[in-house]
Amino acid sequence: MGPLIGWFGRGKRVSAGDSDLKENIPNHIAIIMDGNGRWATRRGLPRIAGHRAGMNKVREAIRACDELGVQYLTLYAFSTENWKRPQDEVDYLMRLPEEFFRTEINELLKRGVQVRFVGDVTQLPTYTRETVVNTQRLTEGNTGMVVTFALNYGGRAEVIHAIHHYADQVKAGLATWEDLSEENFGRLLSTFPVPDPDLVIRTSGERRLSNFLIWQSVYSELWFTEVLWPDFTRTTLHEAIRDYQRRKRRFGGLK
Ligand code: FPP
Repeated sequence: MGPLIGWFGRGKRVSAGDSDLKENIPNHIAIIMDGNGRWATRRGLPRIAGHRAGMNKVREAIRACDELGVQYLTLYAFSTENWKRPQDEVDYLMRLPEEFFRTEINELLKRGVQVRFVGDVTQLPTYTRETVVNTQRLTEGNTGMVVTFALNYGGRAEVIHAIHHYADQVKAGLATWEDLSEENFGRLLSTFPVPDPDLVIRTSGERRLSNFLIWQSVYSELWFTEVLWPDFTRTTLHEAIRDYQRRKRRFGGLK
């Protein structure tokens, strides 16, 4: 007989063996999905085969987070530095959102998932930009889990953009430099109003943030695994969450 299924949180499923995953689930999980290229190379496949396998894991991660009651999931899909890759790989990565949302949109709507994008979408090819705009429009009324795709995203670029935005407000007499605070600066970031990530996961053994959510992750718990993104499973996610649950988060205080 398979594991017993119980219900909890926002009516989500969890198996009896995962009962410790009912409480203290991170509100926001952010993932640096790394290792697609190595996964493919180890199998004698072209790198793009790794990205394709990685795309399928995006579906699995969304399902697994939704079923655990995670409210926000942010996925690093393409960085401002990824344009340095060979053109055929960039082209392939730019085609993935179109394919992914064409096949996934019905399930996302059924789950009530709201899809957001952060990053400079103006630099994306027209077909990718259309997917971004259409997907946001189709899901904007949804009230379930918020899934953000960071596409042509860089944390430093985001901070610089927010500084320009604030300077424009000052110039227009709508704000003053004296009033600049962490709170009102945070409102100018592309991630607003999504709260800061509680847990940042990076796959493939690399242990750095690589320009991902640099402002937002100052008090995030970081979890690294040797698992390559195309090998990421629910079990890997559960392992990360269990580790998170053992952490003492003090945010600089004593408790
Ligand atoms: C890093 O692995 C991964 C990327 C640059 C792309 C991540 C994209 C996906 C997982 C698919 C996104 C799906 C949608 C729907 C947008 P790498 O290629 O740097 O791996 P390596 O370090 O082993 O070379």
